[in-house]
Amino acid sequence: MNRGMKHFITVSDYSIEQLDRMIDVAGKLKSKKTELSLKGKTLILLFLNPSLRTRTSFELAMKQLGGWVVTLNAGGDTWKLETEEGMVMDGTSVEHIKDAAKVLGRYADAVGIRAFAKGENWEKDKKDPVIDVFIRYAGVPVINMESSLYHPNQALADIMTIQEKYGKDLKGLPVTITWANHVNPLPMAVPNSILLACSIFGMDIRFVCPAKYDLDTCIVDRAQDLSVISGGKITVTDNISEGFKGSKVVYAKSWGSLQFYGKKKEEQKYRKNLVHWIVDDGKMKLTDNAIFMHCLPVRRGLVVSDSVIDSSSSFVYDEAENRLHAQKSVLYHILGV
Ligand code: CP
Repeated sequence: MNRGMKHFITVSDYSIEQLDRMIDVAGKLKSKKTELSLKGKTLILLFLNPSLRTRTSFELAMKQLGGWVVTLNAGGDTWKLETEEGMVMDGTSVEHIKDAAKVLGRYADAVGIRAFAKGENWEKDKKDPVIDVFIRYAGVPVINMESSLYHPNQALADIMTIQEKYGKDLKGLPVTITWANHVNPLPMAVPNSILLACSIFGMDIRFVCPAKYDLDTCIVDRAQDLSVISGGKITVTDNISEGFKGSKVVYAKSWGSLQFYGKKKEEQKYRKNLVHWIVDDGKMKLTDNAIFMHCLPVRRGLVVSDSVIDSSSSFVYDEAENRLHAQKSVLYHILGV
């Protein structure tokens, strides 16, 4: 992808110093030690998928910085958008995403896009086609509000949350990123992004998932490279005890299997043997008083027990709050002077 302009697509486009600076600004905004203004700037948010946190926190971030924000739900309060290239548009789609990108770019100083993987063809999805169209045609900075591959704003808020608990230097901090059970094959953007972010910060990562739930090699290889640069470590295991032992952070998320991609029924059959992949008190006891993290929304009783998410070890609401502060910092990085 052409990253010439100041886009925010993945944390792995940024150095540890740049991410640290953005988190520092976010922290100062949170503690009201600084005031920033984006007065007169305009942001358009286009959602191709639902959201609670991302939509609310981006809208409030822009408004609290004094800027303008317009939010559109594709196919709801806009025309139904066609995302395939070269289509004869004789179906239900009324406007091509390329035309929408060109128009929205004329109105705004930056555009935020949420476009999940469609879940049928991974080779197509992994190219992040909607983000790519906006980068090519909008002519303004693009902010990724979760694509097939990345959820950078979530990862930035996650690192900010871990730093609030353990301090700025996260090198060598034992962190468990664990797969959890779910009824649906969910997108991989969150596990991809937290793996990349923890690698940039040199953490001792235990990546725990059952067989057939490995992430795409393009992400794993990039994370390994980033870990080498930062002096971190990545251990991939399907052994839950090994993965949780002595950890300081448990980051839970469910995602779909690449091996069952587009085969939901087959995957649901396979998952019948994976119901024990829930973060509960027993697993948390294996850790070194770890904090529990999840990006939300979360299915209680399936991904995490009530006792864990409602405990004093749970930092899920700090993560959600930090989305607001981190995104203000991202917006100022992109649109500020
Ligand atoms: N974590 C997150 O992105 O939440 P939403 O899907 O509700 O925006």
